[in-house]
Amino acid sequence: MITHSLVPGKPVQPELPTGPSCATLRTMAREKRICSYEDSDYRTDFWEGQGREYEDLAERIALRRLLPQGGRRLIDVGAGFGRLSEFYDRFDQVVLLDYSRSLLQEAQARLGHDSKYVYVAASFYAMPFAPGSFDTAMMVRVMHHVEDVPSLLAEMARVLVGDGTYVLEHANKLNLKAILRYAFRRQDWSPFTPEPYEFVTMNFDFHPDWMRQQLDEAGFHVKRTLTTSHFRLPLLKRIFPAPFLATMDAFCQPTGALWQLTPSVFLQSSPDKPGGEVPDRLRFQCPACSSQELIESPTALHCQSCGRGWPVEDGILSFNEPRPA
Ligand SMILES: C[S@@+](CC[C@H](N)C(=O)[O-])C[C@H]1O[C@@H](n2cnc3c(N)ncnc32)[C@H](O)[C@@H]1O
Ligand SMILES: [Zn+2]
Repeated sequence: MITHSLVPGKPVQPELPTGPSCATLRTMAREKRICSYEDSDYRTDFWEGQGREYEDLAERIALRRLLPQGGRRLIDVGAGFGRLSEFYDRFDQVVLLDYSRSLLQEAQARLGHDSKYVYVAASFYAMPFAPGSFDTAMMVRVMHHVEDVPSLLAEMARVLVGDGTYVLEHANKLNLKAILRYAFRRQDWSPFTPEPYEFVTMNFDFHPDWMRQQLDEAGFHVKRTLTTSHFRLPLLKRIFPAPFLATMDAFCQPTGALWQLTPSVFLQSSPDKPGGEVPDRLRFQCPACSSQELIESPTALHCQSCGRGWPVEDGILSFNEPRPA
């Protein structure tokens, strides 16, 4: 069951991406708040039969436009239950990274135990991969759970190769609905100020200029911007079929290059560092001590430097809680 811990006195925006019990867990390594989806019914409570076919279709159109046609290795950051797995076909290998083991198990049940897929339970703040492991990264409906955006972007820049592609989606605080609500004094917070707005505990809306500045400071250059969900209004969604609204959305998405007033924004960017080759074999890195000396056994990856063991269970590599050194 998905529950939302609301911040008292702050308006809820029901059509913005939300998450389950965003209790403030602490990661072992770096004391970051994490929004936990463990044992949540995200798929059935948020997607299936929940009237979001239009948003789902519109996001797929944006991804079709922004992801490369193919590549060696893709990482889906915050992959959840693998909703967007149609884009995995284009790559030789796909890493599904998520903090929630239970959602990765759902993804595994959908996609199977094919060696093409690597299921990794870990935090996006401390990704257990060697630098330059991926040529492509996608991150959809995840940025709104990122409290420390510079740390996340530093990790993205580290694990991508120089000419790699990073496609991210973020919730937009400067959306038309928020602007109108603010203008008519129906909300007290300004959508025009640059800082992130936490509308529900561990759920953040971002100003598009602020997000681009963060990318710039992390060493990414933004190549394309698309806006999605132009027609996310209950009345329109009741009147028009989802595929029709998605087709209209497809026409409007390129206006994202000019202005961004939709609830959701997609950015395609690349790290500003020399290009490189993605290694044939995925190399892990200990998220606690950064050593790449990890030895595999059937039940764990053992760090030769700090002595921690990272469990491997039912085809899921877990980097959330180490076994004792
Ligand atoms: C709203 S869901 C989106 C899932 C998927 N990308 C999609 O669009 O269907 C957000 C996902 O981010 C994951 N997540 C949240 N915080 C995380 C963290 N610190 N590290 C890795 N994953 C995280 C959650 O477990 C959840 O699966
Ligand atoms: Zn280690």
